[in-house]
Amino acid sequence: MMIDLPHSDGGHLSLTLKVWRQADADSPGAFETYRVDEINPDMSFLEMLDCLNEQLTQEDKEPVAFDHDCREGICGTCGVMINGMAHGPLPNTTTCQLRMRQFRNGDTLVLEPWRAKGFPIVRDLVCDRSAFDRIQQAGGYISIGVGSAPDANAVAVPKKFADAAMNSAACIGCGACVAACKNAAAHLFTGAKISHLALLPQGSAERKDRARRMVAQMDEEGFGACSNTNECAAACPANISVTDIARLNREYAYASLGTSD
Ligand code: FES
Repeated sequence: MMIDLPHSDGGHLSLTLKVWRQADADSPGAFETYRVDEINPDMSFLEMLDCLNEQLTQEDKEPVAFDHDCREGICGTCGVMINGMAHGPLPNTTTCQLRMRQFRNGDTLVLEPWRAKGFPIVRDLVCDRSAFDRIQQAGGYISIGVGSAPDANAVAVPKKFADAAMNSAACIGCGACVAACKNAAAHLFTGAKISHLALLPQGSAERKDRARRMVAQMDEEGFGACSNTNECAAACPANISVTDIARLNREYAYASLGTSD
C-alpha cells in the first residue's frame, strides 16, 4: 500500500535565506541573503544548512557557523531563530528535528542566533550557552556519592512525583526558553533543574541550598526576570511546563525562610 507522505511527489523547494553573519562576539553583525534551490522536503533543517554551506564553500565563501551534535533532538545544542520563532514553527520540535516540508516553495526565512545577554554570540548562528552549565554547577546535583545504580525499587517514590521529576528531567538545556522570552529569563530551564531534584527523596535534602545557589547564579549570568508570559514553554522542544517556574518560586521562597536544613 502506498503511504501518502507530504511532498511525496518529490517536489523540491527553493528558499531565500536571510542569515545573521557575525565574525565573532566583538564584530558588528549583519544579515546576508542567500538562495538555496533543490531542497528535498524530507531534509532536516540542519541538512538544508549543510547544503547552503556546501554551496558557499564551492563559491569560496565562509560557511555559516551553527551548533549541532546529535541531530535527533537529544543533546540540545542546535537552536536557531527561524522567522522570529525559537526552533521554528513546530511545537515540541528542535531545529534538527524540523523537516523542510514545513515550508513552502519560494518562502523567505530569517535565521538568527539566540539573542540574550546571558548567551553572547560566538559566531554567526552560534552563541555561548555555558551560563546554563554554570547554573547547573551551582547546585543542580546531589552532592553525596551515590555509588552504583540501586535496584529500581530500593527507594520508593510515589508515581505522581516520579512522573513529575521525569517530565522536568526532559529539559535538554537548548536555551529556546531564554530566546523566546522578551526578558531573556532563564526561569524555565532553572525551574526544570530545581524541580527534577527537589521532587525526589535523594534530592530533597539539599533543596534549600540548591534553590538559593541556582537562582543566585541565574541572576549573576544576566538573565532577566520572569513576567509569566509563558513564551518559554511555548518554544520548549521538550514540553517543559511553566509549573516548573511556579515550583522554582516556591522552592526559592521556602529556601529564603531559614537555614540550609
Ligand atoms: S542537534 Fe542535538 S538536539 Fe538538535
